[in-house]
Amino acid sequence: MSVMQSLSGSISSSSSAFLAPTNFTSSSRAQNVPLPAKSFRICKCVAAPQEQITAYKTKVSRNANVAKLQAGYLFPEIARRRTAHLQKYPDAKVISLGIGDTTEPIPEVITSAMAKRSYALSTLEGYSGYGAEQGEKALRAAIASRFYKNFGIEEDDIFVSDGAKCDISRLQVVFGSNVTMAVQDPSYPAYVDSSVIMGQTGQFQKDVEKYGKIEYMRCTPENGFFPDLSTVSRTDIIFFCSPNNPTGSAATREQLTQLVQFAKDNGTIIVYDSAYALYMSDDNPRSIFEIPGAKEVAIETSSFSKYAGFTGVRLGWTVVPKQLLFSDGFPVAKDFNRIVCTCFNGASNIAQAGALACLSPEGFEAMHEVIGFYKENTDIIVETFNSLGFKVYGGKNAPYVWVCFPGRSSWEVFSEILEKTHVVTTPGSGFGPGGEGFIRVSAFGHRENILEACRRFKELYK
Ligand SMILES: Cc1ncc(COP(=O)(O)O)c(C=O)c1O
Repeated sequence: MSVMQSLSGSISSSSSAFLAPTNFTSSSRAQNVPLPAKSFRICKCVAAPQEQITAYKTKVSRNANVAKLQAGYLFPEIARRRTAHLQKYPDAKVISLGIGDTTEPIPEVITSAMAKRSYALSTLEGYSGYGAEQGEKALRAAIASRFYKNFGIEEDDIFVSDGAKCDISRLQVVFGSNVTMAVQDPSYPAYVDSSVIMGQTGQFQKDVEKYGKIEYMRCTPENGFFPDLSTVSRTDIIFFCSPNNPTGSAATREQLTQLVQFAKDNGTIIVYDSAYALYMSDDNPRSIFEIPGAKEVAIETSSFSKYAGFTGVRLGWTVVPKQLLFSDGFPVAKDFNRIVCTCFNGASNIAQAGALACLSPEGFEAMHEVIGFYKENTDIIVETFNSLGFKVYGGKNAPYVWVCFPGRSSWEVFSEILEKTHVVTTPGSGFGPGGEGFIRVSAFGHRENILEACRRFKELYK
């Protein structure tokens, strides 16, 4: 029986049977949602520019840096392919394990704090307008004490924001177009794309799938997903993400000590992305500031997106220690503050109330429960690919599973999986040339969907 035949009749039926002997049940969270059947509509994004054929042209020339960008940003491109797939198979029950968006409800202890702040806005006493661009004092203090206690990070080193991705772009504005940068290869695409937009790079070189002037630090199973720094050229900025999206690997204390030393030797600034730190099972550092001396060479950006399901609420933060100085001795934090005050008007007060609730004892526990649920999903996916004989990485310290398909093109594997199982994954090469031959499977999903996707993977690759 072909995969399509075997799937066509049974996709929406209960799917847990083939994994029944495991400890994971489809009811570990109360809010499980059944697979939607036939409910997909093709939506046209109203913000997307209409394609119009017009003879009239303005006299404004296109930003040459934006023109350097290749195709679409990775995730909209995946969404486009998913939409095309649904046009081809309108009845398919597509499961998205691609983009890495959270799916589980936000714990009530957090939403009730947001509701309370929201209702207060309807009262004279409770109303507030623009807040401090850097964030509310109470929240900055709570972030400092919850995540950076004992590391010498203070409340005024914290800048609350509308998310880590937005802060990455604002940091790029601070650095300007004359800096050189390095990224892990593969890496979260926002670092490279924002660098291109700022004009820090050369053109995209199709033969090597790299932009000129970016130092790609290869992270492979062979080097334990930590770059061989002896082969890395000096750059002004290093973007470093741990636990890493997409590989799921987390750097050890020893490796991060090496990285900090490397930055010090070269007079480099590290932008450390710890958006998945709370997913860590290993005893690796949760913050770069656990490493002695890091305050003089590092910035850290993080987010409530994947901790508390705030991908839509939008709340993150960036730590710029006052000890971090440019070559002329000027504090980086002062320039970041200047940019934040110019490009941003402060995070939503309702979202900040939610973030404060996340950091209360009950909120923190509730947040960990949701993270624990996704970590169980991760185990299910890892078990599935292991049982099929694949080499599987990540998963233990991040909600991403990095599956190796030796010798194959990632986009080809992505298409094969989508075509034959109706499951959306992410092609590894979308994260840089070092991701070729891998796909990333996200563990963000309702339990039924994860189990069903794994059943389809087993059917396809048995
Ligand atoms: C490594 C990494 N950094 C930052 C972000 C974006 O976070 P935010 O939602 O706070 O903008 C993501 C989102 O997927 C991510 O994977």
